[in-house]
Amino acid sequence: MSGSEILGESQWIQGKVCLITGGNSGIGKFTAIGLARMGAIAVMVSRDRAKGEAARDEIIRSSGAKSESVELMIADLTSLDSVRRLASDFLQTHSSLHVLVNNAGLILAKRTVTKDGLETTFETNYLSHFLLTNLLLETLKSSAPSRIINVTSDAHLSGHLDFEDLQLSSGYGAMKAYSRSKLSQILFTYELAKRLKGTGVTVNCVHPGVVATNWGRKSAGLLSFAVKFAGPFSLSSEKGADTSVYLASSPEVASVTGAYFTKRKQVRSSRESYDEAEAQRLWQVSMKLAGLSDS
Ligand SMILES: NC(=O)c1ccc[n+]([C@@H]2O[C@H](COP(=O)([O-])OP(=O)(O)OC[C@H]3O[C@@H](n4cnc5c(N)ncnc54)[C@H](OP(=O)(O)O)[C@@H]3O)[C@@H](O)[C@H]2O)c1
Repeated sequence: MSGSEILGESQWIQGKVCLITGGNSGIGKFTAIGLARMGAIAVMVSRDRAKGEAARDEIIRSSGAKSESVELMIADLTSLDSVRRLASDFLQTHSSLHVLVNNAGLILAKRTVTKDGLETTFETNYLSHFLLTNLLLETLKSSAPSRIINVTSDAHLSGHLDFEDLQLSSGYGAMKAYSRSKLSQILFTYELAKRLKGTGVTVNCVHPGVVATNWGRKSAGLLSFAVKFAGPFSLSSEKGADTSVYLASSPEVASVTGAYFTKRKQVRSSRESYDEAEAQRLWQVSMKLAGLSDS
């Protein structure tokens, strides 16, 4: 990113509070670095304190930010209780939130179930972010103009929702679960954009490209092999974070909402992702699963 881009984009973002899930690794870590470099307050979320503290040190070093401008919060997105604690801890220590980057994500070769009884990919990538966003929504509104960025993936193109078996109790496949979770994030983005009309809160989603991170490396079998093989042809984490940082900070997208971006450009997402009835149904089901009630 060039110096002039940083200066131009940093005006709005300076001093703004940005919460980034998955901030200890890959795209999330470089999103935190990019935002901290522009003068934002980067609140990074990690599930592991030691990893989080090491990444926080690196973010401070690489961005040149003051140490008090980079904060660490701990939460495990496989637990809805942990997400509720994260939101409550955040709200106890911050009165405003200008940018929420729902970035954390994983792919798992074998189906596992969280203690909430949900398929792990669905809960981590989608439902926990649905809950977190809803718990922080009033503060995002009172801090407006503010922005929500959901980090999704072109993998959603092969995703389909089956409301009879959202938790994939039969026919599990790593890509099937992953693409479904990413499609859910996009349906959520478009539905939320409609609900937020006129509030000054925008919500967009991003495909970061194929990026050399830890994503998929810990999964077994063919997938981790393919991820390692693709490594040399992939973008760096810094480049992978570029569109997230752009959406969080650029005046060019200040009023853009309900869009899917890649390489800083709006593109079409899958046909299914524009199904408004499906988005509304997913919203209702997610409210129930997350223990929320519509006000
Ligand atoms: N890399 C790509 O090519 C690519 C392409 C399209 C979309 N994406 C998306 O980009 C986002 C960032 O991924 P990445 O590529 O930067 O991979 P990464 O390096 O593996 O980072 C993923 C982050 O999510 C965190 N995370 C995973 N499970 C969590 C949980 N249960 N609770 C809290 N945090 C959790 C990880 O924490 P730990 O470090 O503790 O595991 C890590 O900080 C993901 O949503 C991914 O789906 C990536």
